Amino acid sequence: MNTGPAAVEALFEPYELQHLQLPNRLVMAPMTRGFAKQGVPSAQAASYYARRAASGVGLILTEGVAPNPIGSPETTIPNMFGAEALESWAGVVEAVHAGGGKIMPQLWHTGLRRKVAKSFDPTQLSVGPSAEYPELHDHRRGDPARMMRGREMTQEDIADTIASYAEAAANAQRLGFDGVELHAAHGYFFDQFFWRECNQRTDRYGGDVRNRVRIAVEVIEAIKRRTGSDFPVGLRFSQWKLPDFYDVTMIANESELAEFLEPFVTAGVDFLHASTRRCWEPAFAGSSLTLAGWTKKITGKTTIAVGSVGLSSPIAASEIGTRAPLENNLEQVCNLLARGECDLVAVGRAVLADPDWTAKVRGGRFSQIIPYSAESLQQLQ
Ligand SMILES: Cc1cc2nc3c(=O)[nH]c(=O)nc-3n(C[C@H](O)[C@H](O)[C@H](O)COP(=O)(O)O)c2cc1C
Repeated sequence: MNTGPAAVEALFEPYELQHLQLPNRLVMAPMTRGFAKQGVPSAQAASYYARRAASGVGLILTEGVAPNPIGSPETTIPNMFGAEALESWAGVVEAVHAGGGKIMPQLWHTGLRRKVAKSFDPTQLSVGPSAEYPELHDHRRGDPARMMRGREMTQEDIADTIASYAEAAANAQRLGFDGVELHAAHGYFFDQFFWRECNQRTDRYGGDVRNRVRIAVEVIEAIKRRTGSDFPVGLRFSQWKLPDFYDVTMIANESELAEFLEPFVTAGVDFLHASTRRCWEPAFAGSSLTLAGWTKKITGKTTIAVGSVGLSSPIAASEIGTRAPLENNLEQVCNLLARGECDLVAVGRAVLADPDWTAKVRGGRFSQIIPYSAESLQQLQ
């Protein structure tokens, strides 16, 4: 395989996302790090992100950031509210922009997957579309030990949540962030509404797909009303769910995908981030198109692909703290760009482990890349 710079040229073509001029197609994938104190980003966060920007990554999607207290899984996760957290984020934005980078926070409400005992207020129940989330793959509904439990949201809870997302996005815009991404993947808050398994509602937020996506649609609309149309809003979605539901097919085929995605497009979403564990795998039987490929084809929107770029093993929650061997699969990833299956490519563990990954790839210095390992997660650097 050609591992020289020519093989990865497609990754380094510039791209325009709305008015944002991105220098290349590489995106740092959102990755929770857990270094915040009482929701305030750590003092190291600015240099952590600035190092990835300096290496040339086109766009940084931050770790998940809580839009409101009940959406925060635990106090080590940063908030997008509260004076101290916002001040710390301002420093992050300034450092990334000073290095010529672009950065968007990922707004992350964990819904029923909140770690109650470690959260801001353990006396409060978690909230979700219904009261339960399956915690184990071989779960049996009704067995309390196998479910994460909370309470079903009222209409008032839903209205407050939508308002808090709009407020968090407005805070991000005021701080100078370049847009926001909504985490609607991996079994968290929005995905709990999308996934029939944990949405038993009979009101306008449950039932058919239009209803199940409604809360995310209303959040996009509320953010757009608040921030104006020039502030990019993206949505990350996935078939797979945590903790280990890797074979879920919430969306069975391309027509169901179209039904799922079109409401977001109508609401004004600017980019879609199709989260998979291996970005080149076909999404549905009968076609080689990937989930990103179908997303692009159906919506025409800016589409981000993600999953195992530069690595040989896919993300697995149970192995998040272990090694992931390097693999030069970048030519395969470039083919996705060449075939128009995506516009941007997000890279997770490889960029977490090696802050200089982008420059090394660009320079064809593949053998110098620092591999992802348990130690990668221990410090924010
Ligand atoms: C330590 C760690 C934390 C993560 N946190 C988040 C997160 O906050 N939000 C999210 O959408 N995905 C999160 N992910 C998933 C990544 O964004 C990405 O989709 C996944 O790692 C697959 O990409 P990769 O194979 O390039 O690592 C996390 C992954 C890792 C390794």
